[in-house]
Amino acid sequence: MAPPGTPQALSPDTFLVLRFLLTASLLFCLPLLGIVIAGSAASLILNVSGRENRDDRSLRLSRESIEAVTGNRWVLLLFGILPYPAIVYSCQRILGGQSPLPAFAWVVPFGALLAGCLLLSLYRSAIQKTAELPPAPFRAGAAGLLAMVSAAGLLFLLLGALVNPAKLPLIRSNLVFLLSWNSLVGFLLFLALSFGLTGGIILRFLARANAKAGGRDPDYETRVRAAGTTLSLIGALAVPALVVLDLISLPATGMSTEVFIMAASVPILALAVFALLCLLPGKEESRPGDRVSALFVLMFLAVILCYQTAVANAFQGISAPPGPLAAETVSKEGKAAGKTASGDAAALEKGKKVFDTVCSVCHRFDAKVVGPPLNEVVPKYKGDVAKLKTFIGNPVKVNPAYPAMPKPAIKEDEVDAVARYLLSKVKTGK
Ligand code: HEC
Repeated sequence: MAPPGTPQALSPDTFLVLRFLLTASLLFCLPLLGIVIAGSAASLILNVSGRENRDDRSLRLSRESIEAVTGNRWVLLLFGILPYPAIVYSCQRILGGQSPLPAFAWVVPFGALLAGCLLLSLYRSAIQKTAELPPAPFRAGAAGLLAMVSAAGLLFLLLGALVNPAKLPLIRSNLVFLLSWNSLVGFLLFLALSFGLTGGIILRFLARANAKAGGRDPDYETRVRAAGTTLSLIGALAVPALVVLDLISLPATGMSTEVFIMAASVPILALAVFALLCLLPGKEESRPGDRVSALFVLMFLAVILCYQTAVANAFQGISAPPGPLAAETVSKEGKAAGKTASGDAAALEKGKKVFDTVCSVCHRFDAKVVGPPLNEVVPKYKGDVAKLKTFIGNPVKVNPAYPAMPKPAIKEDEVDAVARYLLSKVKTGK
């Protein structure tokens, strides 16, 4: 039997549908969540500085920002919050139905999301009445922002588990293993994209300010242009760097040429944002809001597609052969073959099956996954089957650079077969 928590085999069709569901819901949910976070952060900051400097234009921009990002309650609910259960459902199914993560790990972000929306809408209705906010609604806004940021952070931890299925057994034993560089970088990337997109949305106020006949206020426009351009440029600077870090921190099993090409399109889009904001002539009159927003939406798209391809790659080895059924055939065949031959082709075949089913979740021969590359560690055993079997049957802590290996749930004869298989594959310790 596969150890508990190992992802179960899904049929390729189901897997494809689930991936599609996940991608579609992320595409709706993440950009909306992102602009709510970045827009309310900008609004809160402008509100403080506006009140301190008695600056009406900052206060106006503060109000318009929160109005723009929480603009339509129904859009927010429909596309920002309702996709969340779909994300949870597809993640849980992809991770293997036997709930590898406890239910509360999914409920907490959802609660935080709802609370954040509620608090931010309190803040919004208060600021619409008077820009000179009393402290209570301001605190509600800050708390709402905090709730949203934590919800997004948790969501990214959970999404990170999907690109590294090898860690699932470890995560089950201790939730600390959810923490990974890849989730952290992914979260920062999400924030950078969100601030960039919000910059684009703020720049769109320019067109609106002009459209209101007679209501043109050049000072306000300058303020809008400065705020929007700063946010978008920060986004356009940070995003490419974070995409590179994201690729570096991606587990080797998630990487592929497609992932790389999609990731490479992001810096190009960021460059286009630069060109729009800094190089184009007629900067004073230009209204780049729509185009900058569109470019950031495209970057979101590229990053999310990149993520889902990485998930598909990471699961490639897993969704095809294994599952408890495969393991059972292994032990049945083992009983048939084991008596007549030990060390011959049939036994090695059996060892390979055990390896592909159980160990490959954490081990490759030539690369580090969760466990060390076997080409590096197996030679230590110098062909000593008994010694290697002892370790596999009852793993002990060896290398402080790795977490402890959990005891695999396999039978005595399977331990024997896989030990022989490893020694046959890594003979001279090259
Ligand atoms: C849940 C992940 C996981 C699974 C599944 C797993 N291992 Fe490991 N393995 C590890 C980790 C982590 C280490 C490093 C342990 C240490 O250094 O303390 C390790 C270390 C090893 C080592 C090196 C021991 C040494 O002396 O340095 C061998 C050999 C090994 N595993 C074989 C196997 C075999 C065979 C299987 C399948 C039956 C298997 N592992 C399944 C995670 C796993």
